[in-house]
Amino acid sequence: MRVLISGTSRGIGLECAKKFLKEGHEVFGIDLLPSSISDDHYHHYVCDIKDKDSLPEIKDIEILFNNAGMQNSKDDIENNLKGSINVTEKYAFQEKIKSVLFNASASANSGFEFPEYVASKAGLIGYMKNVASRLTVYQATCNSISLGGVLTESNKDLIENDDYWEDIMEVTPLKKWMSEEEVSEWVYFLTVINKSASGIDILIDNGEYQLNNTFVWPNYKSK
Ligand SMILES: NC(=O)c1ccc[n+]([C@@H]2O[C@H](COP(=O)([O-])OP(=O)(O)OC[C@H]3O[C@@H](n4cnc5c(N)ncnc54)[C@H](O)[C@@H]3O)[C@@H](O)[C@H]2O)c1
Repeated sequence: MRVLISGTSRGIGLECAKKFLKEGHEVFGIDLLPSSISDDHYHHYVCDIKDKDSLPEIKDIEILFNNAGMQNSKDDIENNLKGSINVTEKYAFQEKIKSVLFNASASANSGFEFPEYVASKAGLIGYMKNVASRLTVYQATCNSISLGGVLTESNKDLIENDDYWEDIMEVTPLKKWMSEEEVSEWVYFLTVINKSASGIDILIDNGEYQLNNTFVWPNYKSK
């Protein structure tokens, strides 16, 4: 299938591009940075998703993963929300489309973290539902994933700081973060295998949001 992924030069997007290539798909990547992939079935475009007029002409995209995003930049809303809207409006609404997936964030559910980042990602979940509804005419699915911590280069400072890491694990019920490889498996499942779930946001956060026990009861001891 013809797969378009934004933000393929590093991190989660890069890992997902590799996964789709390994599974035999034709992958198109958009990033501000040059390509990190050398493969005959990979096509890279250096451009900024904020600038809709700069988006390349790519026909018949079947799978779209809106992944590119920044945290606490000067313009998270313009970048993460408007950028993903630009990409989706340009490539998703045509006969060949099978699935669209957005990379939102656990913080869109909890409201924690940087204000504009949270707003950009929560906006994506609302927009995802709008797109899901409009894509039913093509029998295409559209969902979002809301990830908690991922072991990425962008989180290196936190992961390698023993004090931060201890504090983070304290509030992470499963006592781990997920790997980029695991994210790519979720992305593959939701865009290729899944044919029936649409319009939903899937929280994948090691239990951070749902399983933190704040229950208080006289004489109750949770350990
Ligand atoms: N890493 C995490 O723990 C985590 C958790 C939840 C959600 N996310 C989301 O996952 C996505 C990827 O995160 P990551 O950690 O891999 O980030 P990253 O910074 O390693 O990679 C993001 C890529 O997107 C590209 N990009 C950013 N803005 C762009 C634009 N305007 N136009 C074109 N390319 C652009 C960057 O150049 C970069 O290559 C982001 O949307 C992020 O918000 C990450």
